Parts: sequence; C-alpha cells; structure tokens
Amino acid sequence: MKQVQFPFLLFLIFFLHCTKTSAQSPPPSGPANITGILEKAGQYTTFIRLLKSTQEADQINSQANNSNQGLTIFAPTDSAFSSLKSGALNSLTDQQKVQLVQFHILPSLYSISQFQTVSNPLRTQAGDSSNGQFPLNVTTSGNQVNITTGVVDATVANTVYSDSQLAVYQVDKVLLPLQLFKKAVSPAPAPAEKPKKRVSGSDAPTKSTGDASVDSSDAMRSNHPAITVISFGVAVSAAFYSLLL
Ligand SMILES: *[C@@H]1O[C@H](CO)[C@@H](O)[C@H](O)[C@H]1NC(C)=O
Ligand SMILES: *[C@@H]1O[C@H](CO)[C@@H](O)[C@H](O)[C@H]1NC(C)=O
Ligand SMILES: *[C@@H]1O[C@H](CO)[C@@H](O)[C@H](O)[C@H]1NC(C)=O
Ligand SMILES: *[C@@H]1O[C@H](CO)[C@@H](O)[C@H](O)[C@H]1NC(C)=O
Repeated sequence: MKQVQFPFLLFLIFFLHCTKTSAQSPPPSGPANITGILEKAGQYTTFIRLLKSTQEADQINSQANNSNQGLTIFAPTDSAFSSLKSGALNSLTDQQKVQLVQFHILPSLYSISQFQTVSNPLRTQAGDSSNGQFPLNVTTSGNQVNITTGVVDATVANTVYSDSQLAVYQVDKVLLPLQLFKKAVSPAPAPAEKPKKRVSGSDAPTKSTGDASVDSSDAMRSNHPAITVISFGVAVSAAFYSLLL
C-alpha cells in the first residue's frame, strides 16, 4: 500500500507547488520606480543619491502613481554634476538641496512634442506660493529641446523613460535655479532690444515681416481658440475615459 501512496503524494505536492508558483508569477507591472529607472539607465549615480537623500524618490514614485497630470523629470548625468564648481552642492542647506532636486521636476507630463507648444515660464515642483515660482523656460527647434534657468542653458539629450504617467529626460547640465545660484557677476547689460516691427530703414521691411510671421505663428500655436477647444475636448474625453476604467 505504502509503495503506491508515496509517489502519489509526491505528485500531489509537486502539483500544488506548481499551481502556487504559477499563481504568483505574473510580473507586477507596478508603479514607476524612479531610482530603478535611473539605475538601469546608468550614469546617474549622483542624481540618484540626491533623490534618495532628499526623500524625493519616494515622493516622485507616489506622485507618478497618483497624480492625474503625471510628472516630467530632467535627470542630469554624472558628468553634468562633475562639471559643477566644486562645493556647489555642499554649500546648499538640506532645504535647498530639496529645492534643487524639485527644480528638476515638472508637475505635469510633457512629451518632447508638447514642449514645442508650452508657454514659458514653466512651473517646477520647487515652486509654491510661499517660496516663489522657481520657473524654467524651454526653447525648441524641431525635436531639440533646450532649457534655460537664467543661470544655465541645458539641452535635453534623450528620453530615458516614458509611460503614461512619467517621462524622464537626460539633461547635460544640472539645472541651477536663479533663486539659489544668483549669478556672481554684476547684472549684465540688458540684451539688445528685438527690432521693432515699425522700422524705417530701407532693408528693414523684409526682416520685419519675417519677424511678424514668426510672432503670429507662435501666437497661433499657444493661443489659437481652435487649439484650446481641441485640448479641452481631449481633456474631457480623457476624463470620461478614465471614469469608465
Ligand atoms: C526601486 O528600485 C531600486 C533599485 O532597483 C530598489 O532598490 C528599490 O527597492 C525600488 N523601490 C521600490 C519602491 O520599488
Ligand atoms: C498606487 O495607486 C493605487 C491606486 O490609487 C494604490 O492602490 C496603490 O497603493 C499605490 N501604490 C503606491 C506604491 O503608491
Ligand atoms: C540649444 O542649445 C544648443 C547648444 O547651446 C544650440 O546649439 C541650439 O541652437 C539650441 N537650440 C534651441 C532650439 O535653442
Ligand atoms: C522666461 O520666459 C519668460 C516669458 O517669456 C520671460 O519673461 C523670462 O525672462 C524668461 N526667463 C529666462 C530665465 O529666460
């Protein structure tokens, strides 16, 4: 009797074990993990260290999981950090380090093509009503996106990660906010005024119409009522769709 039962028992145990592990096996496509994403991409050890020491990593993960607008992160490479003036980071208080990291986070999801139509300045996560705006500006040319903070000009080098909630872009400079890194030099003379549209020179009209057409197409892109209506429509359908889910 025992000789018959024993293999059967083994088989039963084996069978139960298999069903148990197969029930566990679907990989968790859980919430985004910013430090995991950056570790996998490599060359972000300094930024990862800052994200952890300021607790911003946890903040980002829970915000990416819960926010309706999503998040955009500009991740400076290790070489971006190493080209900072020595002591630049160490001279910051803990609170300022948090602000520096938050300055690299936009509280909305932007695709590369959406940067082409945003209006400056963009609010960063560092800005709130009590400590000012901590804004940055983007300029684009085709798919090239540049960022200016008033202290540094940086270039978005590539997309490290993107899903429906979170976009992570590599930047070649640490984005230093004007509020923390006021330029040491005395204020530079105001840049030359853009040529006014009404110019009385003989060769001016061509140039001036060129400027005018650029201005009006910019205005159309950001302010055209049809685009606003379409965006509103998209937002409403997105909201309706998310209710259905
Ligand atoms: C994120 O990924 C890192 C590295 O892979 C890991 O150490 C950490 O525990 C993960 N965090 C979460 C919240 O999953
Ligand atoms: C992600 O969001 C879902 C739904 O709001 C929630 O149940 C879950 O606990 C969140 N996970 C994390 C890690 O925040
Ligand atoms: C972005 O910056 C690079 C390097 O400074 C420059 O060559 C390029 O013209 C800039 N592009 C835009 C759209 O500002
Ligand atoms: C950002 O853009 C706004 C609006 O065009 C402008 O007033 C501001 O001076 C710009 N700031 C920087 C640092 O370029």
